[in-house]
Amino acid sequence: MAARGASLTIAAMNTSTSSSAIPSNEGTTPLLPRIVVLATGGTIAGAAASATNTSGYQAGVIGVEQLLAVVPALSTVARMESEQIASVDSKDMAMPLWTTLAQRINTLLADDEIDGVVVTHGTDTLEETAYLLHLTVKSDKPVVLTAAMRPASALSADGPLNLLNAVTVAAQASSRGQGVLVAFNNKIHSARDVVKTSTYAVDAFHSPEIGALGWVQDGRVEFQRGVVRPHTLATEFVIGATWPHVEIVVSYAGVSRIAVDALVAAGVRGIVVAGTGNGSIHASVQQALADAASQGVAVVRASRVGSGHVMRNGAAADDALGFVSAGSLNPYKARVLLMLALAAGATGPVALQKIFDTY
Ligand code: SIN
Repeated sequence: MAARGASLTIAAMNTSTSSSAIPSNEGTTPLLPRIVVLATGGTIAGAAASATNTSGYQAGVIGVEQLLAVVPALSTVARMESEQIASVDSKDMAMPLWTTLAQRINTLLADDEIDGVVVTHGTDTLEETAYLLHLTVKSDKPVVLTAAMRPASALSADGPLNLLNAVTVAAQASSRGQGVLVAFNNKIHSARDVVKTSTYAVDAFHSPEIGALGWVQDGRVEFQRGVVRPHTLATEFVIGATWPHVEIVVSYAGVSRIAVDALVAAGVRGIVVAGTGNGSIHASVQQALADAASQGVAVVRASRVGSGHVMRNGAAADDALGFVSAGSLNPYKARVLLMLALAAGATGPVALQKIFDTY
């Protein structure tokens, strides 16, 4: 397996390594797809002091070459390359790393010789990174994220099979044009729909209400539905180095307006509210958000419930208050979309609602 760069830091990422060491099956037909694994850290690269410890471990300490080395079957699925983009616990994911990752994926996929990309990631913010890439990757080639709930050192670690399955999905022609995918525990999810739903279970990712796109098992990939909303090549979003300041607030019993007022004073461009039920908001926070919207802050109503959607002018009078409905996006994905929309120059609730209705 050829490693493209071995650095653990973003700044020192080496992307110029030649591919001469790539195992080739030239002479036999056909050539296996060429897949690049971009590692960012997470539990899939985590290690604990003992094989029975699955909660007290350090994420992101095992290098990508080692992750690939324990799965020899990868070489029967694809010609493998790898790069260590970062080594972070994904709770610490930050926008500069998103920029680096998306730009690297776009550069790789512009190369006619590369057939797809797999990203290894922590589970904690995987759904945010996946949706960000879904909206900013400019290629129809497969991009598949995967992760693990148990560290690499654990009994029954789930990372190796998840990695093999992710590469299998990325190597499939039928994965092209489906946007960014998440392969986890034998299921294939769309980046737009998938969310983490368990703190410990190996079956930690689901696409609430809508279900997975398909499945992968023993080298077989089957898609059972398609992706309806525009993504990748069909979006107006490009990855950039500047990120509008958007934060999330939560509505709950007894909440005050202090957080919203502090965010407005700090100069945020947008606020997503994780409302109760159908995006309903405690009266004190709703007034603070209405005041924020009247000062030009973009306000998006999402729900803390975990499934379903937020109806425009349902639980709040969006037209009168200047709010936008997040529809079926959870607050964390709504924040990703709001940042990209503001960065693309969208302003005002009408233009922003159109974007939320589209993506
Ligand atoms: C992380 O998100 O990096 C740690 C947790 C995990 O990957 O499961």
